[in-house]
Amino acid sequence: TTDLLCSYKGVLYPVTHCSAETFKALESFEAGVMISSLFFKPLVSGTNWIIHILRDLVTTSAKKNEEEMKRTKQDEEIVEYTYLEFGDPGKRVFATHIFPHMLPTSIFKNNVKILMVIRNPKDIAVSYFHFSNSMPSLPSFQTWDEFFNAFLNGKVSWGSYFDHIIEWNKHFDDENIMFITYEELKENPNLGVKKIAEFFGFSVTDEESQAVADRSSFQTMKENSHKTHGAFGNVLFRKGSVSDWKNLFTEAQNQEMDKKFEES
Ligand code: A3P
Repeated sequence: TTDLLCSYKGVLYPVTHCSAETFKALESFEAGVMISSLFFKPLVSGTNWIIHILRDLVTTSAKKNEEEMKRTKQDEEIVEYTYLEFGDPGKRVFATHIFPHMLPTSIFKNNVKILMVIRNPKDIAVSYFHFSNSMPSLPSFQTWDEFFNAFLNGKVSWGSYFDHIIEWNKHFDDENIMFITYEELKENPNLGVKKIAEFFGFSVTDEESQAVADRSSFQTMKENSHKTHGAFGNVLFRKGSVSDWKNLFTEAQNQEMDKKFEES
């Protein structure tokens, strides 16, 4: 499995996302006029879900406003799934799983807006276990127990969930960062979409935000996933539920993770 991963500054990444030039270029990347950026801590928190919502908001508001449309240019210009790559400054959306300290400093200096998605780490672990075993680019794990230990010790791609939490916590009061939980978005998608729209300055009516929420429902996205995500549709839209962790965690693992979380 080791040939699938590489290490950069002590954190593991899939070799597909590990070019030294990209890491180097990140340092000097100028994030001046981006109006929106998405940065996610670690994998499987609902990245593809939020990307879908945000794209839809951009399109919805652009349709209403020609000036906006000019600035947005085309939907395709939005870099929709970026770990470590990026394009020219502009009105763009970036999604990444890297640590805040590795982000271009201009992002913080220029108050680029950041949306952070938080999900129960127990559900993240279960989702990530299935994800790892379904993605050829990631090492697979024989057993859940083996994965659980790797996850707890940060020996998984994109590093330790707990280290991410510790770092992002320092930004909790930053004005340009909005935190939203997977669980609240799931509980009340229309409200979640409205909050996201407001944060990024998209004006949407109640009807429009409801439509965005409907189009981003798990059911709808899963049904369309062969078109949007090809062969990986079933992997990326697996179950989309809250508390799936209860199907895999032992009581001991539950307590061990609680303890680790409290210590973080
Ligand atoms: P599960 O494995 O628990 O089903 P990411 O896109 O960051 O890799 O996150 C993947 C997780 O988000 C998967 O979790 C996936 O099912 C869930 N997900 C994707 N789209 C969703 C949606 N529209 N609503 C709810 N959950 C969604």
